Amino acid sequence: MALKSLLVLGLLIGCIALPLAQAQLAGLGSLLGPLLGLLRIQGILYCTPNGGIGGNATATPVFPNALVQLQCGGNVVSTATTDSSGVFSMLLDPVNFLLSTLLSGCRIAVNTPLASCNASLPSVGGLVSNLQFIGNSVASLLNVLNFMPAGFVFNANLH
Ligand SMILES: *[C@@H]1O[C@H](CO)[C@@H](O)[C@H](O)[C@H]1NC(C)=O
Ligand SMILES: *[C@@H]1O[C@H](CO)[C@@H](O)[C@H](O)[C@H]1NC(C)=O
Repeated sequence: MALKSLLVLGLLIGCIALPLAQAQLAGLGSLLGPLLGLLRIQGILYCTPNGGIGGNATATPVFPNALVQLQCGGNVVSTATTDSSGVFSMLLDPVNFLLSTLLSGCRIAVNTPLASCNASLPSVGGLVSNLQFIGNSVASLLNVLNFMPAGFVFNANLH
């Protein structure tokens, strides 16, 4: 009996310690409170030479149906497609990601050529952006760590 509860306690501590160690690596330890959590990467793509909103916010056309990839260390680890409003969203299990890696070793790449939303824009290359942490939010019991693209640039060699 005592042995059993020790084992259960050990398992519990193991479960708590692992995510905390990961969070502290990124200096986000205090934000990742609850055991359950999600990473969310969200952004809007615009149909402009650099994917940005530009000066005239409401008049800037969006980039729908664009294939968006999360690439880490050269590997595609998640994909999403922008909707008719140019919005994409990815949910990731934090257990599979070191937060520090997400910020320093991963990028968002848009593999659909800009020409598909505006024929005057390049038909080769694509947009890339690093990630930026924008804060956490709580949805039901889940602690959600929110990220967004830090700012896209055009990369002529992206394929
Ligand atoms: C923004 O776009 C709207 C609609 O095309 C236009 O009427 C307005 O003059 C533009 N504003 C600027 C600052 O370019
Ligand atoms: C298409 O892109 C060109 C070059 O950036 C721009 O001048 C033009 O206004 C764009 N057309 C639309 C419909 O957004």
